[in-house]
Amino acid sequence: MDNFAFIIHPVDPKRDVQRKFPILGRILPEPAINFFSQYFPPVYISHVTGIVSQSTGKEIEGWFVACPLTPKQMVSLPPEVVYQKVIQTGKLAQKLGAKILGLGGFTSVVGDGGITIANHLDIPVTTGDSYTVAVAVEATCHAALQMNINPAIATAGVVGATGSIGRVCAQMLANRVAKIMLIGRKLDVLQQVQTLVKAQGQSEVFISTNLEDLQQCELVLTVTNAIETIIEPRHLKSGAVVCDVARPRDVSGQVIRERDDILVIEGGMVRVPGQVNFNFDFGFPPSMAFACMAETMTLALDGCYKSYTLGKNITLDQVKTMFAMSTRHGFKVSGFRSFELALTDEKINQIKQNAHQKQAQLHWANS
Ligand SMILES: NC(=O)c1ccc[n+]([C@@H]2O[C@H](COP(=O)([O-])OP(=O)(O)OC[C@H]3O[C@@H](n4cnc5c(N)ncnc54)[C@H](OP(=O)(O)O)[C@@H]3O)[C@@H](O)[C@H]2O)c1
Repeated sequence: MDNFAFIIHPVDPKRDVQRKFPILGRILPEPAINFFSQYFPPVYISHVTGIVSQSTGKEIEGWFVACPLTPKQMVSLPPEVVYQKVIQTGKLAQKLGAKILGLGGFTSVVGDGGITIANHLDIPVTTGDSYTVAVAVEATCHAALQMNINPAIATAGVVGATGSIGRVCAQMLANRVAKIMLIGRKLDVLQQVQTLVKAQGQSEVFISTNLEDLQQCELVLTVTNAIETIIEPRHLKSGAVVCDVARPRDVSGQVIRERDDILVIEGGMVRVPGQVNFNFDFGFPPSMAFACMAETMTLALDGCYKSYTLGKNITLDQVKTMFAMSTRHGFKVSGFRSFELALTDEKINQIKQNAHQKQAQLHWANS
């Protein structure tokens, strides 16, 4: 049977360790989990069944395996130590018989974006970033329409625009929005990305190193590799849609607590075709997966066993081809979530109303 394996890792150490080892996760304090996990071997998580292509009827199976490092460890340990741990996890996938391996979360962010890892394994490897880009842009534009924002006349901010996912998201948005604000920390790199994005379409393109400039944006797509949250309530314009693709997330919990006039969605959630059973709860509703998982599944459904997305230079062609392939097999951007909770239409309408009221008050106060 065609198949895949996908590497996950703990993001919130206590919560995520409890998902697989309830007692250990409950009794060990977070610093202890962080410390000991460096010495844990890779962990077999589950057997994934029931994924069926909508176009060919082909069924595949897969495995989740875990690299025991947290994002904090992956950025603080020497890269060789991290690579070694991810490669060991990849070897566990190989032993299980996997024909292709997907790198989840920070395992694709560290170092050279999977190239070294792929060079040390006998099976192809993909980061899943091509489909992540496509899904983030689709989800942002769908959510905009639900908030009565017309992307064609809106300003979109891309935070982390100098990164491998951010830079292509900005290029994808170039044909869909009126203005783009590229936000990063390095002005020279932002200028290079600005040139790339300008070449893609008609949108006006601005650059900034100041998050306060998000105040001009009706749409925000944020995808940095920051370990702590960076977007606070004061940064955001009333009525804005914010798509947070980063893991760990970029948007602070304060935004949800203090700003009932802003729609924050998690980027990267898609419906899997067939009757998928992950045999593991990674915090999504039934049948839903991260876009990066879906890219790995798509390649297995297509029998396309090659390292599809590797390295830090994703191209628009890769993104568009992957989006077409995933759509053909039946993957769909579907449903919105915010801070791990499903967003109903009622909730979105309420946010829209709150934003209208706030904007009316501001207009009245300024007139
Ligand atoms: N949801 C999903 O399905 C999914 C899939 C794949 C990846 N991801 C997530 O996507 C994120 C980005 O991945 P990537 O591969 O694109 O990483 P990357 O290539 O390392 O890029 C991250 C970028 O973020 C920038 N950055 C860091 N802190 C910043 C700040 N405070 N303000 C503005 N920019 C900042 C970095 O800029 P500097 O050069 O200045 O450091 C870098 O350019 C990660 O959180 C990853 O876990 C999610």
